[in-house]
Amino acid sequence: MSAYRTLVVGGGMITHDQILPSLYQLQRLGRVGSIAVCAQHGRTLRTLADSETLQRAFPESAFEPWPSLGADPDEAHPNLYRQAIIALPARNLVIVALPDHLHFEAVLAALENDQHVIVVKPLVLQAAEADWIAAEARRRGLFVGVEYHKRLDDRSLMARRKYRDGAFGEFRLGTARLMEKWYYRHSNFQNWCTSEHSDAFTYIGCHYVDLVHFITGLVPTAVSVYGIKDRYPNGNEGFLWTDARVLWSNGACLNVQNSLSFPDAAPGTNTQGLTLYCAANGRGGLLRHSDQYRGLEYVYVDGAGYAEPSPDYFQYVDLGGKGLTPAGYGYRSIEFLMGCLDRVERTGDRQHAIDEIDRQGIAATPANSRYNEALIEAARESILNGGKLVEFGSSPM
Ligand SMILES: NC(=O)c1ccc[n+]([C@@H]2O[C@H](COP(=O)([O-])OP(=O)(O)OC[C@H]3O[C@@H](n4cnc5c(N)ncnc54)[C@H](O)[C@@H]3O)[C@@H](O)[C@H]2O)c1
Repeated sequence: MSAYRTLVVGGGMITHDQILPSLYQLQRLGRVGSIAVCAQHGRTLRTLADSETLQRAFPESAFEPWPSLGADPDEAHPNLYRQAIIALPARNLVIVALPDHLHFEAVLAALENDQHVIVVKPLVLQAAEADWIAAEARRRGLFVGVEYHKRLDDRSLMARRKYRDGAFGEFRLGTARLMEKWYYRHSNFQNWCTSEHSDAFTYIGCHYVDLVHFITGLVPTAVSVYGIKDRYPNGNEGFLWTDARVLWSNGACLNVQNSLSFPDAAPGTNTQGLTLYCAANGRGGLLRHSDQYRGLEYVYVDGAGYAEPSPDYFQYVDLGGKGLTPAGYGYRSIEFLMGCLDRVERTGDRQHAIDEIDRQGIAATPANSRYNEALIEAARESILNGGKLVEFGSSPM
C-alpha cells in the first residue's frame, strides 16, 4: 500500500478522539504519509497539538497545522481548507470532519481537486447531493467512503452474517436508542447542532438506521420524527430530544430515540443499543445488542467513581515500544476505508473497483448508502412539521 498524504478538515471532537490517532497509527505502519489538519480557528489546532492523550500515545508524531500555530488563535478561516486541498498533490486523501451541514461543499472541493475522500457520517443532508457525489467520484475514479464505524464493530459483522444466513428470520419490529451525555450541550455542538441545521436524530439516529440496513439489507421508506426543543447554555435552540419511527421496505418498523440527555452522573459515555424482533418458520427471532454496557465495571479512586468503559470503540493499549497503540472498531474503520481507497487507486479499472466496493456493501459509499441521505432529508421535513410521516424513495443496491 502507498503512503497516502492526508488532510483532515475539521479539528474537533471526532478528529481528536478517533481520526487523528488512527492516522498516526497508520503513519507508523507506513500506510499514511504526511498529515495536515485544517480547522476554522488556530485555537482548535493548539488544543489538538497540546493533547496529552495524543502526545502520550504518539510522542513521535505531529501534524501540519492550517492555519499555523503562530497565527491569531481567534481569527476565523472558513475557506482556508480550500487552499489546503489545493496544496495536496492529486489522488491523495481528504478526510472531512466538519459539522454536518458543511460536508457537501468540502467533499465537492476535494473531488474537484482529484482527492479520495472519507467523510464522517452523515455524508450530506440531501439525497440529490449524495447522488451528485457518487457520480462525480465514479467519473474521476475516486473513492468516497462514509465513516459509519459501527459497521466495523465485530458484533455488527456477526449479526449481518447470521441475519443474511436466515438465523433470525425477518425483521418486523425494533427499537434503538443512542443518548449522549448531558455535558455535550456545553461543547461546540451548541454552535452548529441547532434546530435550523440538525437535530438529535439527524446527528446520531442515522447510526442505527444504517446498522439495520447493514445487518438486514432492508431500506427505509418512510419516517416520522417528533422533536422536543431545548436551549443550549449559549441560548441557541436545538431539537435535543427526538423520537423517530422508521418504516422499512418489508413493512417493518423501527423506533429510534436520541437525545443529548444521558445524565452526566450515569456510567459510560452514553447509553445505546438495538433490539430487533424477527419472525420465520412459525417462531420468533431476537437480536439484542447492548452497545454501551460491554461487561466492564470499574470504580476509580480519583473521584470519577463508577464507570462502564467500552473496550470496543477506541482504546489505547500498551504493546511495548514507544507510545501506545489504538485498538477497536474506531481504528479498524479508518484502516478499512484506507484499504478501499488503495484498492481503487491501484487497480487498472477504477470504476470497476468502485462498483465492486459499492456492491459488497461493507464500506458505506454515496451510492450504496444513499438511503441515509433520503432518510435524513425526510426526517428534517418531518421534525420541522410536527412529526408528520414523510415517505421517500430509496432502493437497495
Ligand atoms: N459517532 C460518530 O460517527 C461521530 C461522532 C462525533 C461526530 N461525528 C461527526 O463528525 C463531524 C464533526 O463533529 P465533531 O464532534 O468533531 O464536532 P466539533 O464541533 O467538535 O468539531 C467540528 C470542527 O469543525 C471545525 N470547522 C467548522 N467550520 C470549519 C471550516 N469552515 N473550516 C475548517 N474547520 C471548520 C470547527 O472549528 C471544529 O473544530 C460531524 O459531522 C459529526 O456528525 C461523528
